[in-house]
Amino acid sequence: MPIPLDVVAVVGSTSQPSRTRALVDALLSALEERLLLRVRVIQLGEFARPLGQALARDELPAEIEKQLQAIESSTLLIVATPVYRGSYPGHFKHLFDLIGQDALVEKPVLLVATGGTDRHALVLDHQLRPLFAFFQSLTLPIGVYGANADFENYQVTSPALQARIALAADRAAPLFIENQRPLLRRAA
Ligand SMILES: Cc1cc2nc3c(=O)[nH]c(=O)nc-3n(C[C@H](O)[C@H](O)[C@H](O)COP(=O)(O)O)c2cc1C
Repeated sequence: MPIPLDVVAVVGSTSQPSRTRALVDALLSALEERLLLRVRVIQLGEFARPLGQALARDELPAEIEKQLQAIESSTLLIVATPVYRGSYPGHFKHLFDLIGQDALVEKPVLLVATGGTDRHALVLDHQLRPLFAFFQSLTLPIGVYGANADFENYQVTSPALQARIALAADRAAPLFIENQRPLLRRAA
């Protein structure tokens, strides 16, 4: 029997609806076509205010502590954030400031970001990748960036972004496929 892959997706947006969330949902759908997943989506907007009040992990409400534990125990972590002022938002960084320093060592991390335009697409490599380098995580080589023009009504509509999502899923799936061959749609 295939073993479901524990995927935790952190969505760093505090907006509702959210393009970042839409992009994560599209990516999860692409991964679900290739792998059996057990998915938990952590939407930062749902607890950004109480999170901001905690200056140390032992000050976190129990519900938020559970979210941090889910991030730390995931098999694949998807980290998705809107770009704010050329980087990730402060509340997003605060969440990861409270994550255990060694909790993400060797964890596969798939990087995702959205911004107003394509100009800040390198936020993936210049902002997010260094943060997860600190954690000694295994950031996957292919990340996914979407700009406002790639979405309509908070759905991914541009063929270019859809192709990038498929590429990211194609490259990620073989890393986890060992126990999941029956689910691989494209026969070898
Ligand atoms: C405070 C703030 C700062 C932003 N800064 C940038 C930026 O520096 N570069 C950029 O491309 N988009 C910037 N944006 C646009 C958002 O990144 C973009 O609209 C994103 O897709 C929003 O994601 P969401 O719908 O998931 O919240 C900014 C938006 C806000 C609210």
